[in-house]
Amino acid sequence: MVVILLGPPGVGKGTQGVRLAEAIGARHVATGDLLRAARRDGTELGRKAQGFMDRGELVPDQLIVDLVSEVLGQLDQKSGAVLDGFPRTVVQAEALEGALADVKRRVDLVVVLEAADEVLVKRMAGRRSCGQCGSVYNVHFSPPKRESVCDKCGSALTQRKDDDPATVRHRLEVYRKETAPLISHYGKSASPLRRIDADRPVDEVQKALQESVRA
Ligand code: AP5
Repeated sequence: MVVILLGPPGVGKGTQGVRLAEAIGARHVATGDLLRAARRDGTELGRKAQGFMDRGELVPDQLIVDLVSEVLGQLDQKSGAVLDGFPRTVVQAEALEGALADVKRRVDLVVVLEAADEVLVKRMAGRRSCGQCGSVYNVHFSPPKRESVCDKCGSALTQRKDDDPATVRHRLEVYRKETAPLISHYGKSASPLRRIDADRPVDEVQKALQESVRA
């Protein structure tokens, strides 16, 4: 099954995507995580993406399409993928549709996670991430046992540079302008589209998500 998780920054795409992928035995493909790994590794892609990410702008489509083409090329008739943060523009959606058509697949489900801006802003302000194992916490909702220390691997937790209030405001604008139009794009397509209220506890959102997948 190929599932797209659409939604604004901070709505919980990563939190939910990891769990959903595990539940349905699919691969979790998060372009934000892939880009942050490229930056940490100091690759050419990482260097090119850095400025866009720090300013809260989208990385150019061609870089993203190149980044995910290897993953998409590995999809076959049976494998599943939960796409988190991709596609983010109509150009990326068309590239995805083309890659899936090459292996006689299509997008099986598009889920839009929704929450009000003030919820998103609070979540992003409270987010802390482990640079070592990738675990994500929230000082308001799911704090680590020891302040600023990862429960899983003991490494230091840090705040994402693009989670500062001004950049968050810009990311929300970019989402509305560049990514939200995908909702009507998929609304007109053959792929089913479901909307889920993501302003609920993590487990409730996950339950709704898994029900959508099974529907
Ligand atoms: P990316 O990393 O994809 O960022 P994003 O889409 O802005 O999403 P976030 O990671 O901020 O949030 P999320 O929805 O995953 O929420 P999370 O689960 O962490 O992209 C970063 C940048 O990379 C982009 O700005 C762009 O520059 C570039 N990029 C990436 N993909 C691209 C593409 N396809 N094209 C072009 N550029 C691209 O949750 C947030 C916080 O809330 C966490 O602390 C979490 O613990 C907490 N939380 C989650 N759910 C709940 C809940 N139900 N209740 C309480 N707390 C919750």
